[in-house]
Amino acid sequence: MVAERWDESEDLKLSDALDRTDWSFYSGSQLTFGPGAIRALQSVINRRKLKRVLVVTDTVLSEAGIVAQAENVLAKTSADWTLFTEGEVEPSTSTVARVAELANSFQPDLFVAIGGGSNMDLAKAAAASFTHNMDAERMLGFDQVPGPTTPLVCLPTTAGTGSEVTHSAVLKSAATGQKGAILSQYLRPDVAIVDPNLTISCPPKVTAECGFDAITHAIEALLVNRWSNLTEDQNHGLPYEGNHPLGDLFAEKAISLIASNLQRAVGAAESIRSRSGMALAATLAGMAFSSCGVSLAHALEYPLGAKYGCSHGIGNAIVLPAVMRFWIPERETQLARIATLLGVVRADTMPPREAAEAGIQMLEKLRASVQLPSKLSEVGATHADIQGLAENSLKAKRLLDLSPRKANLEDITAMLSASM
Ligand SMILES: [Fe+2]
Repeated sequence: MVAERWDESEDLKLSDALDRTDWSFYSGSQLTFGPGAIRALQSVINRRKLKRVLVVTDTVLSEAGIVAQAENVLAKTSADWTLFTEGEVEPSTSTVARVAELANSFQPDLFVAIGGGSNMDLAKAAAASFTHNMDAERMLGFDQVPGPTTPLVCLPTTAGTGSEVTHSAVLKSAATGQKGAILSQYLRPDVAIVDPNLTISCPPKVTAECGFDAITHAIEALLVNRWSNLTEDQNHGLPYEGNHPLGDLFAEKAISLIASNLQRAVGAAESIRSRSGMALAATLAGMAFSSCGVSLAHALEYPLGAKYGCSHGIGNAIVLPAVMRFWIPERETQLARIATLLGVVRADTMPPREAAEAGIQMLEKLRASVQLPSKLSEVGATHADIQGLAENSLKAKRLLDLSPRKANLEDITAMLSASM
């Protein structure tokens, strides 16, 4: 299997020399993983002789005692700290401005984010805004952050977005009301401290939704357009590199971890083994997709969240099987590999197309086992909505460009109809 994919990249000929011949992998400087890893915050601060820490979190995590755990570690250092506890779901650029304002008066030499993707994204954007004295609105898009930011440590409390290792911050623009993202390699948190104990209080429904966001990241990272098919801007690089061998490594491990741990993490919240499996999977999937990319599932999901208010994980879970089926003609070998990773017995002995379909059905079973909706109608969509949803999906050009099979309006309409 691996040899086969290497052959694909070695197919480059001299005549392709002007096309892309290399790929990159980006990451922060430290990942500390494991139950009790929160202790590592102490050595990060002491080793770097940091003195002023701005913690970005929310009231729910304060009340759950998770912020107190971090404060206990901070108390063992000589640093002063202050808290911003007004993190929100889908943080807006105006909230980023409020955190940056607090930073201007406190002058932190370290940001610490505690929470799910929303709090981490808020802290990433605020660190960039504070460092460069620049409104977050001006940083939306790719490569608009002028340079490195004040260091940031992320402590995720959900296993989903992988934001602790990614280069994106999803924000709601206070100017337009639209959701957008800052994409910059400078946004990757310096340190990710992934402590599965911090995810134990995450409720079953959120655990399932976040788990399906993570598996969507891993599956899309494996299936997006190959790195050698993308054209690079020599000044800015690419927001996503396209599928490459290092991404495969992380994505494959993430899929098998989710297949064997998600159900138990949802059903037996305090199983530290399954929480650990999911926490590691989400981080690995974050490393995979933030390098290789995500594509149609995310493009189809964004209008769903905006119109019906369903979570990002639910939207992904509903549309992902139809997207995978659309990609079979271009990616049957990789889809057959995914079937094996998801636990389809003897997938490696089946014809690839058959194995690919068996893998997709296995994913649908996993979705049902954690009580996630399987149809768009379950989040309130009607057939009359499909055209409008498809037209909005087409606006996510950056994601569509990563599709290994070109998708037009008709294709997207068909995928949404199949998800009804
Ligand atoms: Fe996602």
